Amino acid sequence: MALPTKDLIDLEFLTAEEIMEILETAKPMKDVLKRKIKTVPALRGKTVATLFYENSTRTRLSFELAAKYLSAGTCNISSSASSVAKGESLQDTGRTLDAMGTDIIIIRHNMSGAPKLLGEAVNARVINAGDGTHAHPTQALLDLFTILERKGQIKGLTVTILGDILHSRVARSNIWGLTKLGAHVRVCGPPTLMPTEVEQMGAKVYYDIDEALEGADVVNVLRIQLERQQKGLFPSIEEYAKCYAMTEERLKRAKSDLLVLHPGPMNRTIEIPTAVADSAQCTVEEQVTNGVACRMALLYLMSGGGQDE
Ligand code: CP
Repeated sequence: MALPTKDLIDLEFLTAEEIMEILETAKPMKDVLKRKIKTVPALRGKTVATLFYENSTRTRLSFELAAKYLSAGTCNISSSASSVAKGESLQDTGRTLDAMGTDIIIIRHNMSGAPKLLGEAVNARVINAGDGTHAHPTQALLDLFTILERKGQIKGLTVTILGDILHSRVARSNIWGLTKLGAHVRVCGPPTLMPTEVEQMGAKVYYDIDEALEGADVVNVLRIQLERQQKGLFPSIEEYAKCYAMTEERLKRAKSDLLVLHPGPMNRTIEIPTAVADSAQCTVEEQVTNGVACRMALLYLMSGGGQDE
């Protein structure tokens, strides 16, 4: 089964079956990562470009490694080191990549909607690697994969997404993916960081962290996005941490097998103290590995799933 649209903008536009196909394809990809020689020829002759207008460690590097492990040609463009800095438009940059024969463009942008705009301007397939506060579909895929691998299922689980929901593209994409796969989704954070549309997306809103964690199987702790904050959304960082940090005490009170996810990068002094971040229940490094496998699966499926071979 091929994915339904040319571009991957968000999990909102995929069915549960299509999401599951990506997760199932990621399983053998993870096996490839465990081999001594990690390269397979699935994308030989294809070219993948990463076009990042915003900083990234995990997403950019894991897409680049995923493409390399599948034997694709890769190139990386950052806005500061390209003609974007001279005023070139997103569409013209995309058309330039098209003219050079790029098959897949991975884009991160600080403006919500930029990947959709790029996809409409180019022939290459476009993958959203995070756009503003809108969506981060591949982060949600790797989070789903991690939950599935650790818990054996997603249907029926209670998953709490904790923190700065308002500015979080990770939260939005996770809500789409988790609800489509049958999880009960709770979102918890200060009222000023809670967008109105989350309930319509199928999540239940909590403002009290202890209530939100009671009986939860998974908590996904979000980074407090200081770079996107407007002034006055909470009194102070200390106050925020007191009310909403995933502390060791809260971990002890929760279900003994509570899984703690964090998309990274972590603020260890704010939302997740070191004792929890480095605990056996926290999957942050596992998520990074799974991110490479999920992105290999997506690149493979978006390149025709081996049909060219
Ligand atoms: N989780 C995530 O998107 O991390 P980066 O910003 O480092 O890519």
